[in-house]
Amino acid sequence: MADATDLSRLIPAHTSNLDDVLAEAFRLFARGVADRRSAFRTPAIATVGPDNTPHVRTMVLRQFDPTTRRLLLHTDLRADKLTDIANVPRAAVHVYDARAALQVRLSAQVQVHTGDPVAQAAWANGAPASHVCYAIEPPPGTEVQAPPPAATDQNAGFTNFAVLALTFNTLEWLWLYHGGHRRARFVWTANAPPRATWLVP
Ligand SMILES: Cc1cc2nc3c(=O)[nH]c(=O)nc-3n(C[C@H](O)[C@H](O)[C@H](O)COP(=O)(O)O)c2cc1C
Repeated sequence: MADATDLSRLIPAHTSNLDDVLAEAFRLFARGVADRRSAFRTPAIATVGPDNTPHVRTMVLRQFDPTTRRLLLHTDLRADKLTDIANVPRAAVHVYDARAALQVRLSAQVQVHTGDPVAQAAWANGAPASHVCYAIEPPPGTEVQAPPPAATDQNAGFTNFAVLALTFNTLEWLWLYHGGHRRARFVWTANAPPRATWLVP
């Protein structure tokens, strides 16, 4: 019979093995695409502004490819974050999943797709209700006297539509646990398996 005071049985098995930690982190990103209630659905995405200050905002995770370590996000080409990315094509990604007591952070290279097959495929898969957002005028971030009316054209927005492809080369995982927090880092260089290590939390 299990000892009721044995806390180790409450520790998820994956939190003791670096390969399993990574597999679980990847599973959670994949789940974020499919599950609207997942914390991984709406990561915070940080970029560096032309003034060298950090800018952060929530975005919806649209796709995740574990093989290429690529996250796809949708945005408006006219948004301020595109100016940031044109200057510094990098982003930091942050997710905190309160239910899992888990924080995951990524450091990624950003590629912008607009008017190309990646953008066309994403647009074709999108809902008309999302399409209209990209037809808003004047452009996002413009100062206006009053909130503008919603756009209604479902097709006009494609020229403003962009897919951001974030390829991460660092993943840091932090699990909060009263018996001792656990933290790990994975760094990919070239096509080799990642350098994986535990870190002091
Ligand atoms: C829950 C949530 C989801 C959002 N998803 C997106 C998104 O997928 N793409 C996007 O461009 N902005 C999204 N936004 C709006 C951004 O957070 C941000 O306000 C907007 O993109 C302007 O950012 P920028 O001025 O830094 O470019 C979302 C906001 C919230 C609250």
